[in-house]
Amino acid sequence: MTITWTSGYNINESTPLVKWGPKGKKLVQSPAVTLTFGRYSVCGSPASTVGWRDPGFIHTSFLKNLWPNLKYTYRLGHLLPDGSYIWSKLYSFKSSPYPGQSSLQRVIMFGDMGKAERDGSNEYSNYQPGSLNTTDQLVKDLENIDIVFHIGDITYANGYLSQWDQFTAQVEPIASRVPYMTASGNHERDWPNTGSFYDTMDSGGECGVLAQTMFYVPAENRAKFWYATDYGMFRFCIADSEHDFREGSEQYKFIEHCLATVDRQKQPWLIFAAHRVLGYSSDYFYAQKGSFEEPMGRESLQKLWQKYKVDIAFYGHVHNYERSCPIYQSQCVNSERSHYSGTVEGTIHVVVGGGGSHLSKFSDVAPTWSLYRDYDYGFVKLTAFDHSSLLFEYKKSSDGKVYDSFTISRDYKDVLACVHDGCEPTTSAN
Ligand SMILES: [Fe+2]
Repeated sequence: MTITWTSGYNINESTPLVKWGPKGKKLVQSPAVTLTFGRYSVCGSPASTVGWRDPGFIHTSFLKNLWPNLKYTYRLGHLLPDGSYIWSKLYSFKSSPYPGQSSLQRVIMFGDMGKAERDGSNEYSNYQPGSLNTTDQLVKDLENIDIVFHIGDITYANGYLSQWDQFTAQVEPIASRVPYMTASGNHERDWPNTGSFYDTMDSGGECGVLAQTMFYVPAENRAKFWYATDYGMFRFCIADSEHDFREGSEQYKFIEHCLATVDRQKQPWLIFAAHRVLGYSSDYFYAQKGSFEEPMGRESLQKLWQKYKVDIAFYGHVHNYERSCPIYQSQCVNSERSHYSGTVEGTIHVVVGGGGSHLSKFSDVAPTWSLYRDYDYGFVKLTAFDHSSLLFEYKKSSDGKVYDSFTISRDYKDVLACVHDGCEPTTSAN
């Protein structure tokens, strides 16, 4: 488990540490590392000018050798030069199941949440009106949540750095209890002439520095925000849509490696996620382009989703909710709507970008592959009961109730079964 917090202490002013252990047992101390960055690290204005604020110091501690599925308690601390300690309040978390291990496993997925003000003093244009509702529903249901994925457009600080602290304070009740995993979006990364795949100014000059330092993800290189992570029966392959993902790119190789290296007998639930819609969306913006996707999105990636039999692909970026049929090359490959069983014939694509930022309209006509569309704020909850049974629920942020759902029931042999463009070779030799 990785614990991250910020303080005003540099390494010569205090030694950061975490005191932790299984609930009710002896606590041990683990060291924490310290990172920061200066104004020279960000790429442009407002991040480097009127939006700049000294970020302080970002501390991260890696708690190792955890017993699976056990409740732990912890405190953040600093050892001061005079020998005294200062401690945070007591927090707790439940450790992750070992990859492949069966237990009740519940995953939250959404994008584009941002932050808002509880005192009603709104940022100009009230840009993320659904944000507090989403946060509050997750906090309310936290006993029944094991891990959270916020797939890009995290804070919408857009170069006003203090807004990262506003955001982390808002999600602290969640992020201090369960793993809060992130993906990189245009509002984290994009800035002209800095290597982002899109040449927009959406990060307000942050060019990824804030996201890559404030949030730990198990990427080989956090400046390239793609990573694989396991949670019990789930394998997550998290892409970075702000870097090149086309065939032949470094990221494409990573995605194939992530999908190919999962043992589906142990981890049957294979999830792909990216910020921009690399699969299917009938959002007005994508429909207008005629592609129903981010240009160049699925052309090369759909081969991988099909070959490695990805169950569900999640996206944000457009601020609404939409679920597709199991689909391959724009064709539904299964006519079921609410219960899927047996062979995985295609990937279900889900846009869950209604975390909080102002809503985005759909095209007037829904394509046949679009099974459910909702112009509202919400998030998705996945519940894996065991290796054969998965429940998908879409909940609105306003009331926390389920508005769309489906189940998947299948066994290992169904994952191995031959499907169109996804067959393992056989030989006639015997
Ligand atoms: Fe976005």
